[in-house]
Order: sequence, then structure tokens, then C-alpha cells
Amino acid sequence: MAFASYPSLRDRVVFITGGASGIGACLVEEFHAQGACVAFVDLQEAEGRALAERLDGAWFRGCDVTDAEALQSAVRDAGQALGPVTVLINNVANDTRHPAAGLTPAAWRRGLAVNLDPVVLASVAVYPMMKAAGGGSIINLSSINALFGPPDMAGYVAAKGAINSLSKGLAREWGPDRIRVNALSPGWVITERQLQLWLTPEAEADWAKQVALKDRLLPADVARLALFLAADDSRMVTGQNLVIDAGRT
Ligand SMILES: NC(=O)c1ccc[n+]([C@@H]2O[C@H](COP(=O)([O-])OP(=O)(O)OC[C@H]3O[C@@H](n4cnc5c(N)ncnc54)[C@H](O)[C@@H]3O)[C@@H](O)[C@H]2O)c1
Repeated sequence: MAFASYPSLRDRVVFITGGASGIGACLVEEFHAQGACVAFVDLQEAEGRALAERLDGAWFRGCDVTDAEALQSAVRDAGQALGPVTVLINNVANDTRHPAAGLTPAAWRRGLAVNLDPVVLASVAVYPMMKAAGGGSIINLSSINALFGPPDMAGYVAAKGAINSLSKGLAREWGPDRIRVNALSPGWVITERQLQLWLTPEAEADWAKQVALKDRLLPADVARLALFLAADDSRMVTGQNLVIDAGRT
């Protein structure tokens, strides 16, 4: 197979949350391969640092995105170091399962603090840079689970549903500044974490029955859709929820 290169991504400054592992790490690598200047944050300091060292010019900071000040100053500092951030990928999430009946107020808040609040806070921090630069693209990782609502994921799916609506709202509000905002909803993507925690032959056979395309959905498949949404090729695409799920929905 052969995949697209996007001349408009060369030297573009891209900020990615949760970029040390999983889909986020693949986004970091794919944008770097396009010649973009990539900045990313993650809780996992050692993994993040190791990835940044492999990629010439990449900017990494260890950061807990539930710390609003730490996240917003990372966005601003990356802009100072690399130039105005004109692509923001709100990728970070935590899909830890909890039965809804056992949710305490604190656990509910913690779920939204990692799955929803950083999307708003990073977007607000990047807005002045994008506006001054004449535009930008914000890509918010959502999930097809916002549509299906599987059990034990009430906080996660609520956050993803909110991200879909938030993307629409910000797209309208910031469209006059040529800032595009889209949600990107994957189906089941086989990452390290999925391999360790959830992938069993039974679960995979069950998924295969429900999808049109039987190959595994991989982080790079998601990253390639993000490249398109970040590039000038998608200049009139905004306020959408783009689904990549092998035909599950
Ligand atoms: N993998 C899938 O099947 C799938 C399906 C649909 C949607 N998604 C979405 O795609 C995105 C990436 O998913 P993934 O599967 O790669 O997730 P993952 O759990 O494998 O990786 C998440 C990354 O975020 C980091 N992180 C977690 N909490 C953090 C915090 N408080 N501060 C800073 N960093 C933190 C982790 O260290 C990790 O590097 C998420 O938004 C997820 O909801 C994934």
C-alpha cells in the first residue's frame, strides 16, 4: 500500500496530548514523518522522552493534563519554542471501566477531568495562536462508543458525546477565524494497551462479525485521517464527526 504526503504539513506546528503511547505516539510519528514540528505531552515521562529523542526536533514535556495550568502553559511554551501551534490534536483519554452504580462524585469528576476538560482547556490555550496565524485545525479524538454506550463506561462515553457536540460548537464559534474543529471517532483500534487488557480471540471474533472490513484497525489508520484533517486538503471540512471503524456503525 502507498499513502499520501501532504506538502502543507511541512514545518506546521502540531501539539498532541497523550502522545507517549498508543494512537498518540503513532500520531507523533506520522506527523513528524510529514515534516511537521511536533510537540506532545504525556504522564509517561520515560516513554515520552524516549520517543522525542528518536524524532529529530520533537518537543516533549511530562504533564498531567488534569492540571489545567500545566496543560495550558505546555501549549503556550510549545508555541514559544517551535512557533505558533496551528494543529491541536486532543488525543488523551482514559477508558478505565467503572460500573455506574458505584460512581462517587470524585470518581465522576476524575473521569471528566481526563476525558473532557483537557479538550476545552487546550483548545482555549491554542485559540489566540491560531487566530493570529490566520487559522488552524483542532482534531478531537472521540469514539464510536459515544453512539453505542457500552456498559461500565458511563463517564467515558458521556465525555465522548460531549466532545462531538463541543467540536460542532467551537467549529461555528471559531470558523470566522478559519479555525476548523472536527471530531474523529475510531472503532476498536489495536494498541499496546488493547493488546494487554482487552484483546482476546473471542473479543476479536465478535468484533469481526460486526464490521464490514475484517482487517485489524491500527493506530496508523487513525493517524492518516488526522493528517488529512490537519492538512490544507480538508480546508472546508469543519464541525464534523469523522468515523473510522471498518464499517461497524
Ligand atoms: N484504542 C481504541 O480502540 C480507541 C477507540 C476509540 C477511541 N479511542 C480514542 O483515541 C484516543 C487515544 O486512545 P488510545 O487507545 O491510544 O489510548 P491509550 O490509553 O493507549 O493512550 C492514552 C495516552 O494518554 C496518556 N495519558 C493518560 N492520562 C493522562 C493524563 N492525565 N495526563 C497526560 N497523559 C495522560 C497515557 O499515558 C497514554 O500515553 C483516546 O481519545 C481514545 O478515547 C481509542
